Amino acid sequence: MSEPLRLGIAGLGTVGVGVVRIIRQQAALLEARTGRKITISAVSARSKDKDRGVPLSDYGWEDDPVALAKRDDVDVFVELMGGDDGPAKDATEAAIAAGKDVVTANKAMLAIHGQALAEAAEAAGRVIRYEAAVAGGIPVMKALTEGLAGNDISRVMGVMNGTCNYILTQMQATRQGYNALFAEADKLGYLEADPNLDVGGIDAGHKLALLASVAFGTQVNFDGVELEGIQKITLEDIDAADDMGYRIKLLGVAQMTGRGLEQRMSPCLVPSTSPLGQLEGGTNMVVIEGDAVGQIVLRGAGAGEGPTASAVMSDVIDIARGLRLPTFGQPATTLTTARAALAAVPAPYYLRMQLVDKPGALAKVAAVLGDAGVSIDRMRQYGHQDTAAPVLIVTHKTTRTALDEALAGMDKSVVQGEPVAIRIEEVD
Ligand code: NAP
Ligand code: HSE
Repeated sequence: MSEPLRLGIAGLGTVGVGVVRIIRQQAALLEARTGRKITISAVSARSKDKDRGVPLSDYGWEDDPVALAKRDDVDVFVELMGGDDGPAKDATEAAIAAGKDVVTANKAMLAIHGQALAEAAEAAGRVIRYEAAVAGGIPVMKALTEGLAGNDISRVMGVMNGTCNYILTQMQATRQGYNALFAEADKLGYLEADPNLDVGGIDAGHKLALLASVAFGTQVNFDGVELEGIQKITLEDIDAADDMGYRIKLLGVAQMTGRGLEQRMSPCLVPSTSPLGQLEGGTNMVVIEGDAVGQIVLRGAGAGEGPTASAVMSDVIDIARGLRLPTFGQPATTLTTARAALAAVPAPYYLRMQLVDKPGALAKVAAVLGDAGVSIDRMRQYGHQDTAAPVLIVTHKTTRTALDEALAGMDKSVVQGEPVAIRIEEVD
């Protein structure tokens, strides 16, 4: 039997407690599968006295996660605090410098500092693993770096934020407002410490940037992700989309185009009957397309204690078994830099606007769209409410640039407020 693998766990919130629970409850199974014991030497969090629902008295305690990362009795530093900078990054750097492997669930840190951290780790002969950082319990990083490593990947897309999918699907199912559902997502342990990361699409954008790096062999480039959150989506949009056979999802798409790497995370309409359209609650779905394999669809819990801890443990188990892979699937120094291509691929769009009840109002809208080269596929006008009526337009395929030009040129005397534009994604 080999030496035990000794962990130092920084962060004892939703995910950290889940990891402690699995290590305590599944000790025999973990030992049988890895051939060695997996133990916890010490832990760290902000408050030592908080009751976390798991016994912690068997483990050492460090107030400072950097001190934990450097301890001699720690082989693997497990970073579960969160935050792109600050203690998470300081402690991760300290762990690498002290010769420890790192397991983290922190997509924010890796999406921003992943290249530098990966280069430091690989120079020191250490690994950084982060299965839990992308799509919670779904083993998508493993699928990309191992199971699909023989494929030229053409596209990665999916729904990668449980909070947003929960809010959007529950708005439709329960007719409740955004605020009530946001509070429920919090109770379920889905939310980031800063919830704007969730509803602003940033958290899902971090995940997409990590997937794109591994899929396309490029340096992780979060700044190249076109981002839009779900805050502007109303029940009216959800109903209108439903009426036309669509569901609204916060959808991420990364693909290499002739003009560079397109990465976007934004609300999109997808057919209600498609697997993405039918995705409910906090569930995530990632679709990967490769030249040899075709399409692979992975679906599962994207957040919460058990699923996320399950993913953290898969990384710990790999390290215990001696499986050592570069952070982004190939040595960090060989990753290329790709030019960011903004919404390069044309698509149909859903438009919702409030049109005043005046002769010629609709003609003016159609003319502005036409002048920008945007052609109308379908249109529906609902009954007038006071002085204006909601008008829905589905365009033929167009670029976001042409659409934005048209929206900027709308005559304010006929269009009330800001029109809403949502891309319609053609997915199987
Ligand atoms: P959380 O519940 O907010 O827990 C964060 C933990 O970090 C807390 O125990 C906190 O201590 C500790 N902490 C914060 N700052 C610290 C500091 N300066 N020193 C020591 N400890 C500190 O967060 P979480 O939901 O478990 O998420 C942890 C990480 O997993 C994040 O990177 C998140 O993005 C990622 N993640 C979460 C999920 C999920 O479903 N929740 C899914 C995938 C990935 P106190 O408890 O004492 O305040
Ligand atoms: N806040 C994230 C979500 C947690 O809602 O999906 C999982 O990364």
